This record gives sequence, C-alpha cells and structure tokens, in this order.
Amino acid sequence: MKQFISVKDVKDINALVKQALHYKANPFADKALGTNKRIGLLFLNPSLRTRLSTQVAAQNLGMEPIVFNVDKEGWALEFTEAAIMNGTTVEHIKDAAPILGNYFDILCIRTFPGLQNRADDYGEKIINQFIKYAGIPVVSLESATLHPLQSLTDMITIKESMDANENLKNKQPKIVLTWAPHIKPIPQCVANSFSQWVNAWGAANFIITHPEGYELDSQYTNGATITHNQEEALKDADFVYVKNWSSYSDYGKVLCTDASWMLTNAKLATTNKAKVMHCLPVRRNVELSDEILDGENSLVTKEASNRVWAAQTVLSEILKNA
Ligand code: CP
Repeated sequence: MKQFISVKDVKDINALVKQALHYKANPFADKALGTNKRIGLLFLNPSLRTRLSTQVAAQNLGMEPIVFNVDKEGWALEFTEAAIMNGTTVEHIKDAAPILGNYFDILCIRTFPGLQNRADDYGEKIINQFIKYAGIPVVSLESATLHPLQSLTDMITIKESMDANENLKNKQPKIVLTWAPHIKPIPQCVANSFSQWVNAWGAANFIITHPEGYELDSQYTNGATITHNQEEALKDADFVYVKNWSSYSDYGKVLCTDASWMLTNAKLATTNKAKVMHCLPVRRNVELSDEILDGENSLVTKEASNRVWAAQTVLSEILKNA
C-alpha cells in the first residue's frame, strides 16, 4: 500500500480485516517493523479517537509518532496555486510539505470540509496537495469527503460481531445506514466513506435511509438501496449505522431537524436484534438516545477501540511496501 486515502487504495478488504483482528489478538506481533521510523500526525481539526488510536498503533509497530496541531500551533497554510500571499496565510503548502516529507517516513493528515463550496471540498484540495508535495506515503485521518480509517474500523467491527454470533456467521448481513438529527451542519465524510466501503465489500444487503434532500453523492452510494422510509429500512436489520450529515445537494445546509429520526429501542424492535454503530463523538438524545448508547445492542465502544487495529494494519501495510 502506497497511501491510504480511500477504499480505492485497498486491494482486499477481507485481508485487511483479517490482519486487523490478528493485531487485536497480538498487538506487538510486528513491533520491529517500524524501528527507526517516524510518523507525523498533522491535525487541522479536533480529534480524540483518530489522534490517540493512531499514536497507539504507531507505537505498537515500534514507530515514533509526532503530533502537530497545525490549526493551533502552525503557521496559517496557503493551498492556492500562484496565490499572492498578502492576507492571513503565512506559509505555502509547496514550502511546508516537502520539509515534512524529509522529517517523517509516513505523513497523516486530518482536515474537515468548509461546507461552503462543494467543488472545493469534493476536490480534496488540502490532502491532495500534501500528497503532491510531501513525497512520502500519506494517510488520511479524515479528509473533506472521506474517513477511511473509520470505515475500515467499521468493517472490522461488523466482521468481529458476525463471527461472534452463530446466527450471523454465514449470512449476508442487512446493514442499514440511517441519517440522524443534529443541531449543526456536519460533513458527509463518514456516511460517504461507510457507503463506499460497504459497497466495495459487496457482501451485505445495504440500505441507506434519510429524509428528502439528504441524498449523498452517488459515486459512494451506488449499489445501495435508498429510501426515505426509516421504519421500512430498519425491518430485519442486523446492523444499524447511525450518523448525521448535512445536505449534499443544498450543500452544507441543515434541512431537517425532525427528532423522530433519532433511533430508540422501540424502533429497534423490528430489527434482527440489530447491533448499533456510531463513529463518535455523538450528541446524546439528539443524534442517538441514551437507551441505545447505554444498552446491550450498542457497539460504539468496541467500534472506537477497534480504531487502533485499523490504523495499525494500514501503517503496517505501508511500512511493508516502503
Ligand atoms: N470518529 C472519529 O474520527 O473520532 P475523532 O473525531 O475523535 O477522531
């Protein structure tokens, strides 16, 4: 693996999941792989899970992680070609990224979309310029449109849960991605990425449900069944992935705040005792109810814990191909 930006960088999802579960059972199996290697973790946005799990993963492989909060501690970066830098930006990515490429063996970047201009966000200008100018493997810690480490984690969590359940072991699972309410405009990254990975995996009956106006970019959802009827979607579901996202068509807007879209135990009653997933952070009793999050169907803590094994697997694949 040369980089990890989307599922397109993955040859075999099942093999990656298998490797991740191997690391979960044997965290230090490849402790020597990253000896004398340094990994830079650049954050242009806040993070709890991505930041800490990637550091733990790097250390499990013997690498030295260095975290840099670019948004708070770095010079304001300029990403526009031929910019006349007489405004607020201080350093061009063309100057900064090659230096980072000399300091590190792998560079990881976390950035969010502005949610103002769809073409800018979906053009992935920021992460693409790090790739262009750093000259070393780049790993997305979430970009403007995708969150591949989260999605690999989600596949690991689904596979682990299926293996532990006799009724799901040899079944094609029904996986439902349901929109949930939120008070703020939230990126489409997690929903795009989850859709892209489940479709690429190809081993599930995949349904996406959301209110009108929340259709995601079809390049990620093609292959899924899409419905505005949440009740219908949830029937017989084995896994329910809960996530808010802002509108893609009316870009970055909150079009619906209907609280009845929040998942409750009553809604779960028609599912196949579905396990409930969320990437976290979650706004309790807005996006997802206490009764679900604190209940026996919730996979959210296990899911967040599995972030380590997803990151460790991706870093090991890059180190093995260096
Ligand atoms: N799920 C996730 O990416 O969490 P953080 O924003 O805390 O990293």
